[in-house]
Amino acid sequence: MKKWHMDVGIRIPLLYLIFGGLWILFSDELLESLVHNTEELTRFQNYKGWAYVAASALLIYFLLRQYLQLQKKTEAQLHKSEERLRLAVTAANQGIYDIDLITEDIVVNDIYPMLLGYDPLEFSEKLSDVLARTHPDDRENLEKKFNEYIRGKIDEYKLEFRQRSVSGDWIWFISVGQIVEWDQKGQPTRMLGTLTDITEKKKEEILRNQLLEESQRRLKRIASLHEIDEEISSSFELSTTLNKIVNNVFIHLQADAVDILLLDEESMTFYYADSIGFDSERIKNARVKFGGSFAGIAAETRKMVHFADLENEIIDDAFRSLLTEENIKSYFGVPLIAKGKIVGVLELYQRQILEPDKEWIDFFQTLAGQAALAIENAQLLEGLESKNAELLRVNEDLTLTNVHLTQAYDATIESLSRALNLRDYETEDHSRRVSMMMIDLSDIMGFTPEEKKHIYRGTLLHDIGKIGVPDTILRKPGLLTPEERKIMEQHPIYSYELLKSIDYLQPALSIPHLHHEKWDGTGYPHGLKGEVIPLSARLFALVDVFDALTSDRPYRKAWSVEKTMEYIKEQSGKHFDPGIVPVFLDYIQSKKDLI
Ligand code: C2E
Ligand code: SIN
Ligand code: SIN
Ligand code: FE
Ligand code: FE
Repeated sequence: MKKWHMDVGIRIPLLYLIFGGLWILFSDELLESLVHNTEELTRFQNYKGWAYVAASALLIYFLLRQYLQLQKKTEAQLHKSEERLRLAVTAANQGIYDIDLITEDIVVNDIYPMLLGYDPLEFSEKLSDVLARTHPDDRENLEKKFNEYIRGKIDEYKLEFRQRSVSGDWIWFISVGQIVEWDQKGQPTRMLGTLTDITEKKKEEILRNQLLEESQRRLKRIASLHEIDEEISSSFELSTTLNKIVNNVFIHLQADAVDILLLDEESMTFYYADSIGFDSERIKNARVKFGGSFAGIAAETRKMVHFADLENEIIDDAFRSLLTEENIKSYFGVPLIAKGKIVGVLELYQRQILEPDKEWIDFFQTLAGQAALAIENAQLLEGLESKNAELLRVNEDLTLTNVHLTQAYDATIESLSRALNLRDYETEDHSRRVSMMMIDLSDIMGFTPEEKKHIYRGTLLHDIGKIGVPDTILRKPGLLTPEERKIMEQHPIYSYELLKSIDYLQPALSIPHLHHEKWDGTGYPHGLKGEVIPLSARLFALVDVFDALTSDRPYRKAWSVEKTMEYIKEQSGKHFDPGIVPVFLDYIQSKKDLI
């Protein structure tokens, strides 16, 4: 059944028409039946006419009044909501644009040009202006997304891009737009949207990614040091060791080509041993006299030789033609020195001019140090297969090498941890204290020496993931908001992600990954409960909180040891494993008694 609907604008005149018609038809008859005197009848008919006009006038008056009131109210409301919108947009410092999709003219609010440094009074905008101002790397995407949205291929227009401001700086914007009008054929004709400056947010994001990438790169380097170390202790084959070295240098130092030349002591000449990254085989003919050419100079001076730009260097013809053929621009040569003896030269080539930073050079030299030891050992072994006594000596050397290398990458971990402490405004004292406590407590708890080694590394790296947390949060002088807290609580995940690909840190992961889990399951990042949390992480949670509470933080003063011990007692079975709280408190008490 269809419901009878009619517009008020038609219903009222129609009712009026019906009422008026009935009035005309029946009122005279009614009057005539009531009044018989003709003179009086005329007078009453006159009154009747006046009454009708008066009633109509009254009706019109009330209708109009209502209409006008309604209009006023709507206007007031509209004004109010416009005002609110304007305020909201101004408060958020947002530009507004209104694009005529037919003429491609754009009407904007005052903030829009101001975001770009233009004077609103002298600003006019067309679609082509927007594109011209957009960063070349973002332009294609902007054009693509805009067209796709207009053609209905995507449902949402929301895009981040850079635009050049009047002063020539690039400003990051997020633009969110919506089609609001279509023509009869359904083609869009008008689009409204907002433009917001997100440069600060973007800068932080980029910095965070850079830091994460950098840490990842450093950690990969540690891993490769370790890989070579393993190689040395497991393979006594010189060719395998050399291959491993050139591969690692090639991958981790972003080299275009790498080779190793070995010294023949009788002729005091360096010969090709292994390489990677060269197009031709010519490098295999390399032969360099001690003291001659680049490799020979590196060996003689016992220093790294570096030519950032080979263009203007004096180079012998054969080598020059090789470099030209391979299109090489930069050269690095490091002497391989094992226990004071030159065994060879490690050479690295770049097809682009390279000015490396100190960290790169350090890593290159560390690798060279390892390579030298590996080569020396392998050479020794090759020549001394049957002699028992000699083998014993070699064994000793190998152990020495291992100790040396473990020291090299533990030093790297320590420097990483120091770098983080700098950013977190922590003192080195703090790091040392936490490590010392963990070493003491792992003794008391009866961890094996192997476990203790992992616990030590895990402790140094426990907050490495804070590298991924923006400074504004990390160093905030006050309490964190729930949103900031959420970001902060990512740090164990960041730590885990950073370290997980490094084999030799696998056993040390529990502390960085799980030190904020709580015994009762209310911790983060996974809400693990009870003994599911590794013992080392449960132990470290006590040390971490104890040390945090007894230290000044940007957001509060240090607590006394007594107050902190009370707190830890109170949190036993909640935050902390009730089985180890007494052990921990005894330990702290014994330390206190010593003082
Ligand atoms: P942190 O300051 O080294 O604190 C490590 C852990 O010690 C904290 O983990 C928490 O369990 C405990 N702790 C530290 N300070 C207090 C405190 O005043 N009261 C209590 N009851 N416990 C405390 P949590 O809470 O997961 O925080 C991890 C990290 O997040 C902190 O390391 C700190 O760097 C940061 N953070 C936490 N809350 C705030 C805050 O309100 N403001 C700022 N700026 N940073 C915070
Ligand atoms: C470690 O996580 O560092 C090894 C010891 C353990 O997890 O219990
Ligand atoms: C640190 O141990 O380096 C800082 C304290 C923490 O947040 O765990
Ligand atoms: Fe932490
Ligand atoms: Fe911590």
